[in-house]
Amino acid sequence: MNYILIGPPGAGKGTQAKKIVEKFEIIHLSTGDMFREAKKSDKVISRLLASGELVPDVIVVNIVKNCLLKYDVKKGFLLDGFPRTLNQTQELDIMLEKENVKIDGVLFIDLKLEEAIKRISSRRTCSCGASYNVEFFPPKQAGKCDVCNKDLIQRDDDKEEIVKNRLTVYENQTKPLIEYYKNKGLLIEIDGSKSESEVFKQICKSIKK
Ligand code: AP5
Repeated sequence: MNYILIGPPGAGKGTQAKKIVEKFEIIHLSTGDMFREAKKSDKVISRLLASGELVPDVIVVNIVKNCLLKYDVKKGFLLDGFPRTLNQTQELDIMLEKENVKIDGVLFIDLKLEEAIKRISSRRTCSCGASYNVEFFPPKQAGKCDVCNKDLIQRDDDKEEIVKNRLTVYENQTKPLIEYYKNKGLLIEIDGSKSESEVFKQICKSIKK
């Protein structure tokens, strides 16, 4: 099974991706995670992420291409955060055609922007990859990771001004993909305003269909 996960910043893509890949035992490709790792050694990517702008298509497409070649994509995969522009969508179509692989569905986690802002501003993360939410999913001990006990931090791009820009970038560059995939009959709409487990239930139901 091959799925794409899209939705506004803070909709719950990363949270649901972890659950999906664990349950269905497929490969998880998160371009956001890749760039957060890359920004440690790459100043250009670091600057782009900190401003809330997208990484240029040519870089993203190359990285995804290499990843898809590295893994056995026939086992199934979940693309989380990619594609994000119409150009990336067309590049993905070309890549998949070459590999003779098809997308089974595009899970669009929909969430009102005000709710997304609320969730992002209360998100805290750990360098080990764990993610929390001080309002909805707090750690057992305030400010500390449940997994490794390190201090939790707020992502640079989760600051208010940057979040506003990320939402504008989403509206202008990623939202058009919803129509694109709807026209292809691949779009699966998920109500992201429900609890984490209810959102996952909706996803599992649509995947089983
Ligand atoms: P990326 O990491 O993909 O960021 P994003 O799309 O903005 O998404 P977020 O990570 O903010 O949110 P999410 O939807 O994963 O929500 P989460 O599950 O954490 O990309 C980061 C940057 O990388 C981009 O800005 C760009 O610069 C670059 N980039 C990445 N891909 C690119 C591409 N293809 N092209 C170009 N550039 C690219 O949940 C949010 C919070 O809410 C958490 O605290 C969570 O605990 C909580 N939560 C989750 N679900 C629920 C629920 N149901 N109820 C209550 N709380 C919930």
